[in-house]
Amino acid sequence: MRIDILTLFPKMFEDFSSTGIFQRAIGNKLVELNIYNIRDYTHDKHHIVDDYPYGGGAGMVMKPEPIFEAVDSIQLQTGDSNEKFPIILTTPRGRLFSQKVAEELSQFDRLIIICGHYEGVDERVNKYLATDEISIGDYVLSGGETAAMVIVDAITRLIPGVLGSVESARGDSYSDGLLEYPQYTRPPVFREWEVPEILLSGNHGEIARWRREQSIIRTALRRPELLYKAELTDKERQFIKDRLDILSEDK
Ligand code: 6GU
Repeated sequence: MRIDILTLFPKMFEDFSSTGIFQRAIGNKLVELNIYNIRDYTHDKHHIVDDYPYGGGAGMVMKPEPIFEAVDSIQLQTGDSNEKFPIILTTPRGRLFSQKVAEELSQFDRLIIICGHYEGVDERVNKYLATDEISIGDYVLSGGETAAMVIVDAITRLIPGVLGSVESARGDSYSDGLLEYPQYTRPPVFREWEVPEILLSGNHGEIARWRREQSIIRTALRRPELLYKAELTDKERQFIKDRLDILSEDK
């Protein structure tokens, strides 16, 4: 997959692309990450990328010309302007990112991500250039770069071959719609806090049962809304119901 990122802060992506799974994915040619500085697509002496908002108000707005020009230049360079692929703008006004959106985007051979900034981006970018607007959550970030990293991270992990078999075989949170069970490593006792005995038992059937139960309990307590869509057996649904009854009797 080829991912092109348009940003005002290219340095922010240096460590990101040279660490951990990205380094390996890029080295193995599974992912190509290109960072473009929007400022390089200005033509004025001061390389101005923002301007005052029409109609007044606080803050600055990102100008459309350098962003359009950067995208045009990338398209020319790759010579495949007929190919349809997402051009994503990161913005707190976008649709909400999720594992499902990551899965959807991981199907494409290429993506362009434009990192939004300041009070916003000239609406003509949203309207006539971007094909998708994504927000990573209901909070305000000072720039779209960290959001772009979140999006790229979640997507690249889904590309076949990026994760080792051990990593990908793990029951990650959300892969079955439940939160992950608690993990422990050595030592067995740390500051008098013990690892649950079951994990030391060597009984793999019982361990799997305990983990599943922990996942369900955690999800019920922290993210109960996830249970509606989770893959649960009738017995597990009954287990939750019994627990809920106990909880409500406490009150
Ligand atoms: Cl994508 N951008 C900004 N600036 N803030 C955000 C966001 C994106 N997602 C949540 N908050």
